Amino acid sequence: MKPNQISLPVDKLPKKWYNIAPDLPEPLPPPKEPSDGPSRMEFLGKTMIHECLKQESSSDRWIPIPEEIRELYIQAGRPRPLYRAKRLEDQLGLKKVRLYYKREDLSPTGSHKVNTALAQAYFAAKEGKEALVTETGAGQWGSALSYAARLMDLDCIVFWVRAVYDWKTDRRTFIKLLGATVYASPSNETKIGRELLAKDSNHPGSLGIAVSEGLEYANSHEGSVYCLGSVLNHVLIHQSIIGLETIEQFKLADDEPDLIVGCLGGGSNFGGIALPFAGEMLQDKRECEFLAAQSQAAPNLVSGEYRYDFGDVAEQTPLLKMFTLGHLTEMVPIRADGLRYHAAAPLVSALRNHEIVKAVAYPANEEAVFMAARMFFQSEGWLIAPESAYAVKASIDEALKAEKAAEEKVICMNISGHGFLDIEAYRDKLGIK
Ligand SMILES: Cc1ncc(COP(=O)(O)O)c(C=O)c1O
Repeated sequence: MKPNQISLPVDKLPKKWYNIAPDLPEPLPPPKEPSDGPSRMEFLGKTMIHECLKQESSSDRWIPIPEEIRELYIQAGRPRPLYRAKRLEDQLGLKKVRLYYKREDLSPTGSHKVNTALAQAYFAAKEGKEALVTETGAGQWGSALSYAARLMDLDCIVFWVRAVYDWKTDRRTFIKLLGATVYASPSNETKIGRELLAKDSNHPGSLGIAVSEGLEYANSHEGSVYCLGSVLNHVLIHQSIIGLETIEQFKLADDEPDLIVGCLGGGSNFGGIALPFAGEMLQDKRECEFLAAQSQAAPNLVSGEYRYDFGDVAEQTPLLKMFTLGHLTEMVPIRADGLRYHAAAPLVSALRNHEIVKAVAYPANEEAVFMAARMFFQSEGWLIAPESAYAVKASIDEALKAEKAAEEKVICMNISGHGFLDIEAYRDKLGIK
């Protein structure tokens, strides 16, 4: 028997995170101050976790994972298995193409976000902080941080994009069960929120707005720190645990991926699986391609410009060099709302600029991606998050293309989350009564 599940033993959990910065083809453009207003770097220095800011500008290739965080990772079910998608291959009639998927859905709160949430909560507690403040889109990051905060005995305050807060009632309960305080964003808790609500009392919100609210709130509440769930270098460093495990699992499977696929909103799950492989490629240790799957509602890597931009709507962050649609761009709400962010992580953007990362965007009506997710559920048996459905759709498309061209190919996709709390979206998009 050749099992379809490839598991790493607990004692093989990586001891270091990987930072691709020193292996990039050219140095990563540093964050910049805008030409006017107060220093954004000083602001971040006051509102964010110091250890994370240190990692943000680190040029060390390897960053040790503290023993306590490794214990928390194991408690949260790491290492997570890699699966060969044999049943999906059969369903698609693939003979030349092999499909694999990494199981970040097998997480206590339902997504990869726990990988950085546990690290950030641990560092915040060590720095004597009392409360973690954050934004969330899909609600997965808010759930992950609430969970991590609870384990570290910290308070958690979540600003949740209103368009999603309104329909994800079960996930809202899930977050509240963890003891967090949740506000629909824009909210009345902050100046930027009140300004936006005065213009439109039903404002659907966006991740950029929720980030602004969280930063403002953390800055005005003693003992609070702001934690970001994507985009920044330290988040992608923590998420490298995904790709590092996957590299070891491919060795166990005696196979090699030719293409890594992940969905991309801000870039944390895609960066998490892709960057350790990309690093080996940049060091001439392997060949591999990388594909980010996006929504046409927020196609930052597909049609954005590579330039300096703010990370939030209220312009409180420093300027970061990213593929961006513009921080004030309005984007229509989608069910996979975790993908609705105006810009892609600087590290992923740098690789896109060198054409190491490619990207594809699927229509904002999301029908095709939900059909792909249903096929995955009916063949592999796992109900995945709407965001992860983009990775599955892109992998299926690439597999069928290669098969048609009689090209042998191994594709590995990242399943960033489960869909147990997204039933409403499935009902809606697949017309289930
Ligand atoms: C399950 C899931 N996948 C993917 C994403 C997109 O974020 P990122 O691009 O940072 O992985 C989110 C964001 O909320 C998510 O919840």
